[in-house]
Amino acid sequence: MDGNGRWASSRGLARAEGHAEGARAVRDAVETATRIGIPFLTLYAFSVANWARPRGEVEALMRLLVDFAKSERMELRQNGIRVNVIGSLEDLPTVTRHAVEDLITYTKDGERMTLTLALSYGGKKDIVEAARTLAIKARAGLLLPEEIDERSLALHMTTHALPDVDLLIRTGGESRVSDFLLFESAYAELLFLPIMWPDFRPQTLVDAVEHYGQKERRFGMTSEQVAKNVQAFDPFDQPS
Ligand code: FPP
Repeated sequence: MDGNGRWASSRGLARAEGHAEGARAVRDAVETATRIGIPFLTLYAFSVANWARPRGEVEALMRLLVDFAKSERMELRQNGIRVNVIGSLEDLPTVTRHAVEDLITYTKDGERMTLTLALSYGGKKDIVEAARTLAIKARAGLLLPEEIDERSLALHMTTHALPDVDLLIRTGGESRVSDFLLFESAYAELLFLPIMWPDFRPQTLVDAVEHYGQKERRFGMTSEQVAKNVQAFDPFDQPS
């Protein structure tokens, strides 16, 4: 959700105003994703690197998260949306952490869509911490190093309850993934949009999903194999 700061600066507003407008775009995106039947929507709301931003901006973002958690909880629950977090919720200020924890509990029975907020999230960090946990378990004799595979690594990441990424959208005009879902987006379709996040409209998401639907995903196979419905290589399904 890149471009909040530039959206604000170009209007002579403070960066925090851009984030507030970004939060409005979040509401629209969540509502649209639910309406068009997307089962999992993951939003990169705050990265581990974002802690280095000016203190006032970090505080504004933390307050926006509290506002979002409080003002949206009823509607999220009514619409069958379950909220989940990846990253390190424990890094957040207590007030924000509690508001998000309450939101998770309040929406836990939602079955229509899982809305995941990436908070104090870093893709490299998630991989490293999963590897460390596996190494500690191996040292304790709970598993053999030879048993470590893609599945066990995935199960120890904070994304363990999510499927792999199908479509990754970045606004703001940059063509990079900036440490977002590195492991999980190995076969994702990447879509880089020139618009700033506050200008992301319901129709932008509808168009992006339509664009995605036209893509042929080959998962390393040939077009002929895909046409014949050949089973894709599944690293989780190898004979041991
Ligand atoms: C990046 O734009 C955006 C962020 C670091 C924060 C994203 C937060 C929101 C959209 C609002 C709060 C979120 C929720 C879930 C309620 P930038 O500030 O780097 O923009 P710039 O590149 O133009 O400076």
